[in-house]
Amino acid sequence: MAENEIFTRDVLIKYLNESDKEKIKELTERAYKVKVDNIGTKVYLRGLIELSNICSKDCYYCGIRQSNTKVERYELTDEQVMEAAEFAWRSKYGSLVLQAGERCGRRYISKVTRLVKNIKELTGGELGITLSLGEQSKDVYKEWFDAGAHRYLLRIESSNKELYAKIHPKNTRHSWDVRVRAIKDLIDVGFQTGTGVMIGLPYQTTENLADDLLFIKEIGVHMVGMGPYLKHSDTPLGSIADEHPSLDLTLKMVALLRLMLPKINIAATTAMQVIDPYGREKAVMAGANIIMPNMTITEVRKNYQIYENKPGVKDDASVSKSKLEQNLKEMNIEIGWNEWGDSRAFKG
Ligand code: 5AD
Repeated sequence: MAENEIFTRDVLIKYLNESDKEKIKELTERAYKVKVDNIGTKVYLRGLIELSNICSKDCYYCGIRQSNTKVERYELTDEQVMEAAEFAWRSKYGSLVLQAGERCGRRYISKVTRLVKNIKELTGGELGITLSLGEQSKDVYKEWFDAGAHRYLLRIESSNKELYAKIHPKNTRHSWDVRVRAIKDLIDVGFQTGTGVMIGLPYQTTENLADDLLFIKEIGVHMVGMGPYLKHSDTPLGSIADEHPSLDLTLKMVALLRLMLPKINIAATTAMQVIDPYGREKAVMAGANIIMPNMTITEVRKNYQIYENKPGVKDDASVSKSKLEQNLKEMNIEIGWNEWGDSRAFKG
């Protein structure tokens, strides 16, 4: 492997097709070294609050899609969110993520604005706030940014327009172009912006994955969260018999992305933990530097199953915290307590 290798489409495809365990190990170790040389060894935590599972979208892969009538819908109260925020702050997580299905009503938008302001106030501005609330107008993004949120996650899901069309309903509410526009709006507004894709989707090819990596580089985001696609039986795609993608494929994606973009934040996502109990920690050893421990209250966790077998649905925030700390300790991975852990690829 050349030190200054250029990751062209062909090179990426070659690595993604690699099945030799030794070669994969070499790739992930090289990515780990590039991470350490550029941004250090620490993992930063973002406590995850699943604010609501109400969703106006109908993505064919997602368990909380609007048409899934088996899901009991919820929305956390302001008090429940503030309690979780306080837990994150006291736990020295450094920052939190507010995530929910996609909604656009004025009442809801104002609630998010109010929550962001209240969390900032409660923590004297100490706790960083990331939002993951789907596609919104640029004005709404501005409103939330001005309220004090400074990071936003919006996955492109797949950079390939045809594949995107296959995994979403064919209407204007599920438009690839609108989604790309939204990612660009977020960058424009001033957010540290994250995107990402699902790995191992039905119909997805290795070429698509190579293009996903090139898309992520091209669009200029500061953070990335990618994870294996996992089927959910109560969804249209869930009826397609498919095996989980291998953890190796996800690790190769993480490692290649780290080599292409040495300074960005890359999340070791919860979906990785479904295909391997140490999936997230292995991703950290392949170049990821962010973990998002779940802090959602136990009562509603079971209702936020975007895929099946989501780990820790019976746990509460402190159990998720101690399990994660234990895992990280076993693997000698150091945590960046009380730090925002901003992307070093972000220049304000
Ligand atoms: N498997 C894996 N990831 C999924 N997501 C939604 N449904 C699934 C699934 N079945 C991911 C999407 C979304 C994020 C919040 O969860 O990428 O952006």
